[in-house]
Amino acid sequence: MEQYKASEKRYDESDILYRRCGRSGILLPKVSLGFWQNFGAVAPLERSRDIMRCAFDNGITHFDLANNYGPPYGTGEETFGKLMESDFRPYRDEMFICTKAGYDMWQGPYGNWGSRKYLMASLDQSLKRMKLEYVDLFYSHRYDPETPLEETLQAIVDIVRSGKALYAGISRWPLEALKFAHKYLQERDVPLLIYQGRLNLIDREPQQEGILDFCKDNGIGFISFSPLAQGLLTERYLDGIPGDSRMSRGKSLTPERLTPELQGYLHKLKAVADSRNENMAQTALAWILSQEGVTSTLVGASSSQQLMRNMQCIKSKPLSAEEIRILG
Ligand SMILES: NC(=O)c1ccc[n+]([C@@H]2O[C@H](COP(=O)([O-])OP(=O)(O)OC[C@H]3O[C@@H](n4cnc5c(N)ncnc54)[C@H](OP(=O)(O)O)[C@@H]3O)[C@@H](O)[C@H]2O)c1
Repeated sequence: MEQYKASEKRYDESDILYRRCGRSGILLPKVSLGFWQNFGAVAPLERSRDIMRCAFDNGITHFDLANNYGPPYGTGEETFGKLMESDFRPYRDEMFICTKAGYDMWQGPYGNWGSRKYLMASLDQSLKRMKLEYVDLFYSHRYDPETPLEETLQAIVDIVRSGKALYAGISRWPLEALKFAHKYLQERDVPLLIYQGRLNLIDREPQQEGILDFCKDNGIGFISFSPLAQGLLTERYLDGIPGDSRMSRGKSLTPERLTPELQGYLHKLKAVADSRNENMAQTALAWILSQEGVTSTLVGASSSQQLMRNMQCIKSKPLSAEEIRILG
């Protein structure tokens, strides 16, 4: 295969593509690419390569992984490692790569949650799979109510000090724990770079719980995962459940989600998108990006065509008061 050469135009839209991540030196693209479901061993490697090349060629520099992405677990990182070797090694310093640990990864008491033992071992495994010496960002993937927060956070501090990660992040921690993490990390000069939470038109928990405000007020970036509600907020489900969709696989997105009420909402979103000459994903992402405090949206895509449609949001004009009213 011919050696990949990144597009020379990849930074042509820098002015509208990047946002500063909280109070830090890091700029992230408004659209980042996640490896949760579409890059595992079950996905064709050539399709994964096509999506990742498309991302990088269009200025997407931020790639989001976790130990358990696949399926099966671990293989999202393995695919990333293969693509790193074959295509992206010369561009390592242009990439902002993260991984996480927090969910069940291996058997026994040390392969889950938030202990120092798990986080340290997991990151070492991730680096091997991803064929990297360090990641740019390491996250605690979820709040662990049973491990002392000090233990989890000190492990993250030590990981950053060891150079295996450059920055610290947390995902899905409740507000009070987020406040604790912010203070603990700040006092140790390893500031919390970013919080990862699910924020989209139909799920606004981080906003309702004050997490987004806390991040904004304290110089912490915020990245929204599943910004298209796993594909619901696109044309895909307007007329039912397509055979090749995530919902048809019935694991993380089950058919019960597609209630008549939700379908009604999707048609409203379609009407707003049509009136703006946009695709639905574009409008849904533009809404997220218009929320104060949001740094980036973290999309999944099962094709480069989907990714390009999502990228259109960087050109969207702000939503009008009337559009915001319709979308609730
Ligand atoms: N921190 C956490 O706990 C957590 C949890 C979940 C996700 N994440 C991160 O967030 C990333 C994104 O999550 P997600 O995959 O749920 O994001 P999403 O962007 O909401 O959903 C992605 C799915 O939507 C569909 N889609 C995307 N763009 C489309 C378009 N333009 N037109 C039609 N359909 C489109 C595709 O579905 P089909 O596959 O059906 O084509 C795609 O697989 C993950 O990869 C992961 O990195 C983090």
